[in-house]
Amino acid sequence: MMIIQTSALRKCFGKIEAVAGIDMNIEKGEIFGLLGPNGAGKTTTIGMLCTIVRPSSGAASIAGYNVVKEPALVRRQVGIVFQDPTLDTVLTGRENLELHARLYNFPSRIRKERIDQMLELVDLKQRADDITRTYSGGMRRRLELARGLLHRPAVLFLDEPTLGLDPQTRARLWEYIKKTAQAEQTTIVLTTHYMEEAEKVCDRVGIIDHGRIIALDTPQKLKETMGGEMIVVRAEKQPLEKILALPYVSEIRENDGALEIITKEAHRRLPKILSLLKDVHCVEMRVPTLNDVFIKLTGRDIRDDTVDDSGSWVDSVARYRQRGS
Ligand SMILES: Nc1ncnc2c1ncn2[C@@H]1O[C@H](COP(=O)(O)OP(=O)(O)O)[C@@H](O)[C@H]1O
Ligand SMILES: [Mg+2]
Repeated sequence: MMIIQTSALRKCFGKIEAVAGIDMNIEKGEIFGLLGPNGAGKTTTIGMLCTIVRPSSGAASIAGYNVVKEPALVRRQVGIVFQDPTLDTVLTGRENLELHARLYNFPSRIRKERIDQMLELVDLKQRADDITRTYSGGMRRRLELARGLLHRPAVLFLDEPTLGLDPQTRARLWEYIKKTAQAEQTTIVLTTHYMEEAEKVCDRVGIIDHGRIIALDTPQKLKETMGGEMIVVRAEKQPLEKILALPYVSEIRENDGALEIITKEAHRRLPKILSLLKDVHCVEMRVPTLNDVFIKLTGRDIRDDTVDDSGSWVDSVARYRQRGS
């Protein structure tokens, strides 16, 4: 069953087309990631699905309810954790959840029990009665996760849930997101630009750039579109035609000053490829990541908002990109 459906969903802010017509279907129970760089239109898309932002055109529904015509019904189906933290830091963890439960008219009979259950789920029971100003960044995010799920929404939206946290805390938070989604049987739609982390938790991802979904599939299927593994080489500038002519090499590109050669059976092909290169400083082999997929699709690295191409010595090679694999 499709719990979220959008068709040609679009939003303009004046002359800026923030979301340029999105068609996507998300299944009940999925963890779906919307991945893309800053300004791609992720927050605006989520805003429209949560009825906070009014679409300029197109349509979207959640659990069958139209986001423009039935906003009150949609709101009952969704929970949201915003990109910017929205906890009341003079209140305790429990009080923050209490406030939310009252907003949703929870009967007092079940309120305490439900709050305890959610505090337990995100391991904050011990700290529940401390004011949240004393919480770490990760604890605050966990509390927001608990709050977003408190009223048992069918869909939980998480906008950049791990932004600003250190890598270890981010890793733990992803575990909590997975665990709570399972425990609560909630569909999750999340945005992030941490591609490597997203691919570990998301069942499917949509890659969004300039307001459009440019690819949508399971992380595995998207990575398979790279057509092989990567051999990453640092070497002096030199002609690369001979390597490109090899039948198993599908692409060569430059990223971060290194040559990335995409080839089938990298382990078997490495000696031949190296024999065609002079002055190699170092070599590394790896499997493609979603960031590699993003670079293939857009020519940019998701980590850079603007890519400086000056001095790139493989510019001429870029023209050979995406030869049939
Ligand atoms: N309220 C707004 N008014 C004007 N422009 C906006 C507004 N919200 C977002 N934008 C613009 O829309 C584009 C998409 O923004 P956003 O959805 O926040 O992207 P993301 O969440 O992927 O970083 C950006 O160019 C942004 O500057
Ligand atoms: Mg955003």
